[in-house]
This record gives sequence, structure tokens and C-alpha cells, in this order.
Amino acid sequence: MRAVILIGGMGTRLRPFTVETPKPLLPVMNRPFLEYQFQVLSRHGVREVVLCTSYRAGTFRRAFGTGRRLGLKISYVRESIPLGTGGALKNAQSLLNGTTLVLNGDVLNAFNLGAFLKFHRARRAEISIALTRVKDPTLYGLVITDEKGMVRRFLEKPSWDEVVSNSINAGAYLFEPSVFTHLPQGKPYSLERGLFPERLAAGARIAGYVAPGYWIDIGSVEMYLQVHLDLLQGRTPFRPGPRARPFKNADGARVTAGAGTKAAPFVRFSGSVSLGSKVRIGRGAQLTDCVVLDGASIGDGARLERCIVGPKARVGTHAVLGPGTALAGGSLVGDYSQL
Ligand code: GDD
Ligand code: MG
Repeated sequence: MRAVILIGGMGTRLRPFTVETPKPLLPVMNRPFLEYQFQVLSRHGVREVVLCTSYRAGTFRRAFGTGRRLGLKISYVRESIPLGTGGALKNAQSLLNGTTLVLNGDVLNAFNLGAFLKFHRARRAEISIALTRVKDPTLYGLVITDEKGMVRRFLEKPSWDEVVSNSINAGAYLFEPSVFTHLPQGKPYSLERGLFPERLAAGARIAGYVAPGYWIDIGSVEMYLQVHLDLLQGRTPFRPGPRARPFKNADGARVTAGAGTKAAPFVRFSGSVSLGSKVRIGRGAQLTDCVVLDGASIGDGARLERCIVGPKARVGTHAVLGPGTALAGGSLVGDYSQL
């Protein structure tokens, strides 16, 4: 079976980090985010992957090449202007055959492909949508199913008065080849706002598979921080990979770091902290539940809590970075600043 991954979005909610690096390539514990989802594909025997790129398209080929290093065969399609999730998928049609797995590229989902396929076939569905449960469905695509697991309604980004369940589209689909005839060629089209409601209205069989297990969409700064905390606290079945090692000066906290990272004496870590490579942490700094990306430096006595420091940023001595701070790569925070 082949998989298509949609990775052309601009990641606007994850700025400043996505100005240089597209969302699926953002580092998560010293490896590009998408490599975690590749682990799931490999585990289920999916070797051929088509990446639908648009925003910063060239960066993906540079990161993954032919995919050989990852045990995959990766092909690329590129939209010169973004065509939305449906337009992007249509572009990949000539590279696909048979039942196809389609994934959003900013989601980490440890689903069981065998069980998903079995469910899809048992319902003779044209499309099956993996579902997960969340606290705030207004940020996602709400999916309402009947007692047999068939989708009755699809509502992208509902308002609170439309929320009648907490099951949302997890961003993983199985598509029969016949679906492609309903996707327009070369013009913007959305799976979520176009294809799903239109096929439902036409009476097509769309099934909703409740996928148990870990799920996150890293589309916002808060969620990008959260995926690190979840990995560090062992709440996921994913392994961070060899470039993130447990950090020696870690006290009771869970801290990992890449190569060449150094902390001065009296640094205090608490909670879960992910440090990139070549990070410098000054004497007596305090870091709680945060992410510091490659080459950043944190001054003596600085205090960081629930924040993300971009690559090569410099945080001055005794500066305080509070919850939600998203410091752009290369920025300078003066001594004693409070953000
Ligand atoms: N190639 C290409 N072209 N890819 C795109 C385009 C495009 O024009 N637009 C979006 N994508 C990719 C993004 O890169 C991302 O991986 C995926 O499609 C989904 O886009 P997001 O922008 O992240 O959408 P969302 O998070 O608001 O909502 C989607 O995901 C939710 C689950 O995380 C929807 O599918 C919701 O229904 C779903 O619940
Ligand atoms: Mg998303």
C-alpha cells in the first residue's frame, strides 16, 4: 500500500518557527517531526510514500532525499500555488494505485493500519476517516457517525453551538481509487470543506474509524511544546532517536540534549526539557518544561518556563521567559528582560 502525506501548508500558527522551516520538518528532540510518522508507516509495512509539497518545497527533498536512509521510497509532487488538501492529493494521482493511505503531515498518530484497513473493508467504504477525541473540537474537523460507524456529518472547524460530540478527524484517511474522479485537477479544493460533505450529500459510503492511542496535531506553538513534553514523559509509543541523549546534569527532571550541548554549574532543570545540539546554558539558569533549539544560548541566572527558544537565539543574563513565549531563531533578549 502507498501513502500520501500532505505537507504543503504554511504553518502560520506556528510562526516564528515555520518562517524558515516548514512544520513537518521542525525538529522534535533532534529529528524532523515527520520522521516519527514515518516510523508508523514502516512499522506497518508501508514503504512507498508520496509527499505533496508546496510551501518551502525544496527543503523536504534536502531532508529526506529518496528516503533510502529511512527505509522508504519517497516521491515528491509540488504545487506552485497551494491547491488545498484536495488539489494537492489530485496531483499525486498518477503515482498511486489501489487503496491509498492519506495523512496530514503535522499529526502524530500511532494508529494500527491493519485494524483501520479491516474496518474500511468490512464497511465497503469509499473513504474511511480515522477519528480521535479531543477537548476542543472547534479547532478541528468534527465528524458525526452512526452506531455502525458510518459518517453522517462532517463539519470543519465548527462553532461551539454546533459541537455535538468530541470525535474529530485525526488527519488519516483510506481512499478507494474511485474517489480521485471527484477531485478537480489544478484548482484549489479542500477535502474537508469540499470532498467529504459533497460525497456525503451524494450518498457515498464514508466510514469513521475511532483510532485508539496517542494523537497530536503540532499546528500551534502550544502543541509543538506539548509533543516534546509527551515524548519526554513517555506518553507516546515513539522513540526520539539517537541524536537526543539523556542529559547528565539533569537532577530529577527529564532532559535530553543533542551533541555538543553544555550547561554551566548550578543550572536547575525541572519537569521535561528538550535541548538541541550546541546549546549553552549559563550558570544558575532555571529551565522548566521548555524546548531550546540548536545553537541557542541561555544567559547566567535566566529563568525559562513553558516556552520555546528558536535556533541560535541568545537569551541575556537573568532574563525571564514566561509560559507561551515563542522566541524566533536568531533573536536577542537583553539582560534582565521579562517576556
Ligand atoms: N500540499 C498541500 N497543499 N498541503 C496542504 C495544503 C495545500 O494547499 N494546505 C494544507 N496542507 C497540509 C498541511 O501541511 C497539513 O499537513 C495538512 O495539510 C492539514 O492542514 P492544517 O492547516 O494543519 O489543517 P488543520 O490542522 O487546521 O485541520 C486539519 O487537520 C485536523 C487534524 O489535525 C483538518 O483535516 C481537520 O479536519 C482535522 O481535524
Ligand atoms: Mg494541522
